[in-house]
Amino acid sequence: MLHANPRSLLLVSLIGVAACDRNAPTAAPPPPPSTAPVPIPEFMVVPASLGTALRGLDAAQRARFEAGRAVFATVFTPATGLGPLFNSVGCANCHEEPVVGGSGSNDPKEGGEDIEIHATAFHGAGAPCDDLAAVGGQVIQKQVTPALSDALGITAEPIPAAATDSGHRTTPDLFGFGLLDAVPDAEILARADPLDRNGDGISGRPNRTADGRLGRFGRKAQAATLREFNADAFVMEMGITNPLNQTEQTVGGLPFPAGIDPLPEPEISAAQFDAADAFVRFLAPPPHAPLDFTSALGSITFRKIGCASCHVPTLVTGANPVPALRFRFVSAYTDLLLHDMGPDLADICLGQAQPSEFRTEPLMGLRFATVFLHDGRAATVSQAIELHAGEAVRARNRFLRLKPFERRALLRFLRTL
Ligand code: HEC
Ligand code: HEC
Repeated sequence: MLHANPRSLLLVSLIGVAACDRNAPTAAPPPPPSTAPVPIPEFMVVPASLGTALRGLDAAQRARFEAGRAVFATVFTPATGLGPLFNSVGCANCHEEPVVGGSGSNDPKEGGEDIEIHATAFHGAGAPCDDLAAVGGQVIQKQVTPALSDALGITAEPIPAAATDSGHRTTPDLFGFGLLDAVPDAEILARADPLDRNGDGISGRPNRTADGRLGRFGRKAQAATLREFNADAFVMEMGITNPLNQTEQTVGGLPFPAGIDPLPEPEISAAQFDAADAFVRFLAPPPHAPLDFTSALGSITFRKIGCASCHVPTLVTGANPVPALRFRFVSAYTDLLLHDMGPDLADICLGQAQPSEFRTEPLMGLRFATVFLHDGRAATVSQAIELHAGEAVRARNRFLRLKPFERRALLRFLRTL
């Protein structure tokens, strides 16, 4: 959705952050400036650097980042390649809060347009997960172009009959994800402990793609590289084919009637795709809010009760052709591994991830989130922690036993991320 939510309007008007351009076409005018100073909690202030590029890019890289922002913010139409199946008309229609590149508005009360439906078929732990690629893919598109609607008489892709499970996915923010792409596999694999040899109850394991590569993107760590995720996002979210992925999503695996999708593949050029990829890759991680005494205490509690066993505070990138991505610390608060989170959170399988396994969600940018967990079922950070089970049950129980001031400190720390 293109409109600003009330919180970002408030922030825009009160602190004058440069986030207005994305709202230009449809936003209501911001409320008149208030005369009395209104105190804003530190964690709600949107830093001016949010949504800007990593430091240390050269002029050509910065130019590609800016060109990519324009592709990312492009609104596609059927005439420019949208559909036949799609979830939304542009990347920035979902990744929009509080600035372009951010999360979805993710509020079911706002129509839930940034919340997706994914479906797969799980046939037991021994059998491979079927991502339904042959019958339309794991992302179930919620919209179709008028031409397809007229031809097939549908308004959305039906969930394929072969699916055994489906689940909802809120739209996450993308700040700092280029750095996660640049973390060497060995750094991630060093933390895997599938048999829990150290006996801490936590047995993270990597996801793997069909061709055996380490997965790290998506809530189930199903995609190996940012580039592939971005290429598939164009197709799965907007029906925009590109040089890396030239195959439209289908309804039930059937070819579309003639004339439904007139533009030849690929529907965007290599230069357009590379720019969009550079925009996502070069988005700077969100700056932390400053720590005070209480939140500093909370960061110690975070480690003490075992949150950091999965939400690993810092990863280090490896050698990289881009100096701004080379040997950098990224305070993402994830190990990029899969963990069994218990039966209540379970939904679909994906790659080697079983229904109850999820990638440790990065906590960087947490303070800008409005709903929590993969489907947004938690309305507060506390609820999200209380819903941790499976491998996270010990950490959750320690959280539940914290003294009130320790709990307050931990939550305050999390709101600095
Ligand atoms: C309809 C809303 C929507 C649109 C449009 C959309 N995304 Fe997303 N995006 C999502 C959702 C939902 C996820 C989480 C997917 C998952 O968990 O498997 C996501 C995840 C991502 C991720 C991985 C983040 C992570 O946590 O690992 C990247 C990268 C990304 N999107 C890039 C893009 C790009 C590039 C575009 C435009 C080509 C785009 N998205 C368009 C909803 C959207
Ligand atoms: C066993 C690994 C593990 C441990 C231990 C763990 N987490 Fe998590 N955490 C996860 C996974 C996996 C998710 C994603 C679950 C989902 O989306 O359903 C997650 C999600 C979250 C989220 C929601 C993030 C979002 O943006 O939706 C928060 C907040 C969180 N964890 C905080 C904590 C805190 C605080 C602790 C310590 C009490 C903790 N976690 C311990 C694995 C873990």
